[in-house]
Amino acid sequence: MANQENSPLQIGLAGFGNVGAGVYKNLLKNRNLLEKRTGRALEVRRIVVRDPAKPRDVELPAELVTTDLNALIEDDEIDIVVELIGGIDRAFELVKAALERGKTVVTGNKALLAERGLELFAIADEKKTPIYFEAAVAGGIPIIKTVQESLIGNHIEAVAGIINGTCNYILTRMTDAGLDYPEALDEAQKLGYAEADPTLDINGWDAAHKAIILASLSYGCWVPTDRIYVEGIEKITRRDIDFAQRFGYVVKLLAIIRLHPESNAIELRVQPSLIPQDHILSSVNGVFNAIMVQGDVVGETLFYGSGAGQDPTSSSVISDLADAARWQSEQGGPTGFVPHGLYGKPLPIDETDSKYYLRVEADDEPGVLAQIARVLGDHNIGILSVIQPEDHAPGSAPIVLMLHYARFGTIREAIEQLGTLDCIREEPVLMRVETL
Ligand code: HSE
Repeated sequence: MANQENSPLQIGLAGFGNVGAGVYKNLLKNRNLLEKRTGRALEVRRIVVRDPAKPRDVELPAELVTTDLNALIEDDEIDIVVELIGGIDRAFELVKAALERGKTVVTGNKALLAERGLELFAIADEKKTPIYFEAAVAGGIPIIKTVQESLIGNHIEAVAGIINGTCNYILTRMTDAGLDYPEALDEAQKLGYAEADPTLDINGWDAAHKAIILASLSYGCWVPTDRIYVEGIEKITRRDIDFAQRFGYVVKLLAIIRLHPESNAIELRVQPSLIPQDHILSSVNGVFNAIMVQGDVVGETLFYGSGAGQDPTSSSVISDLADAARWQSEQGGPTGFVPHGLYGKPLPIDETDSKYYLRVEADDEPGVLAQIARVLGDHNIGILSVIQPEDHAPGSAPIVLMLHYARFGTIREAIEQLGTLDCIREEPVLMRVETL
C-alpha cells in the first residue's frame, strides 16, 4: 500500500452518483486545506461506476474509471475504499473484501450498516481496520463523531431526531402550503429531494436505518431490523395536520431512541408524531434534519443542518477521509468502532408510553361519542380533549381526540375494538404526541 509516511493516501471510490461526484469535486476543491490539516495528500486513484457513458454534472476523469469493483480490492496501492454504491449485497461484498485486505473503509450506506453492521464491524475489529460512516446519518450533520467522540463521557439518555429530509419536506409543505400528500410528494420528486422511487423515505425505513445506527452508537448494541417499530407518512392527511394545528401541534416524522434505565431496554421507533408548536424541533422545516441528544453529563444538545444533498453529504465523507488519513499516519485515534454488547435490549413497542392523537370517522348520530368514550374508558385510557367540527360532510363526522398517557399496546387493543363498532366508518388514524 502507499502507506509510507507523508506519501499521498490513495483512494478507491466506488460510486460516482450524487454523493460520489461531490466527494471527488470537493476533494479537489479543498485539497490544499486538507493536506495542511491532515498532513497527507488525499488522491483519488480509481473510480468505479456502472455506466461510464452516463451524462453527469461533475465530469468523470476518464483515466481513473473502471466498471470493476474488484479493481479497488486488488490494487495494493489503494489505502482507502469509499463505498457509495448503495444497496446491500454488492456493497457488503465490497466492504468485507476491503476490510479483509486491510483497507480502511468509508461508507455512507445506512441500510448496509443497519442490516449487516454487526458482521462488518466484527471483521473490522478482527482486522484492526477502521470503518468510518459519518455520511450514513443525517447527511452533513456531524452526528456520528459527536456521539462517538464529543459525548463519549455521557450515558446517552435519549435521542429524538427528524432524520429524513424527504418526509420533512412533504410534511412541511402539507402544513405551510396546504398541499395534499400526493401533491407534496410530487413536488419533492420534481425538486430532486425524493428519489424516483421514494419508498424507503416515505415508509420510514431510511430513518429507521439511521436510528439503528444512532442506537448502536448510543447503547453499544445492534438492534435487529425486525425489532424496531416503523411507520411512514403515507397515511397522513392534510386534515390530520390541520387538526393537530388546532390543538397546538405540528406533525413530524420522528425517530425516538431512548434508554429505559429501570429495565435497561431501548425504545427504538420511527413514527409520525405531534410535537408542540413551541418546541424547537417544530421549526425544523423543508429538507433540513435536526437531532436532539440528551446526555447525563451534557444535558440537552441539538444538531441541525442539511440531511442530504451532494455537498453536505460529501462534507461528511471527506471528514471520514481526514480521520482515515490521521489514523494511517498515527495508527491511532478514532477507528469508527463502538464497543458492542455492552448493554441494552429493545423494548417491545407495546410497552412504550406516550400521549396520542386519535381521529375517528363515525356516524353523525346521538350516542356515537359515548360509544367511543366507553371503549377508551374500558381500557383505562383518559381523554384530554375532543373536537368534533360542525363543518363536515353530512352523515359522517370526524371525532378527534387527544388522549392521556397510555401503553401503545393498550391503545392498539382499544383501536381494534373501536373498529368493531358499527358507527365507525374508516380505520382510525393514530399518532403519538411527543412532549420531548
Ligand atoms: N433520502 C434521505 C432523506 C437522504 O430524504 O433524508 C439520504 O438518507
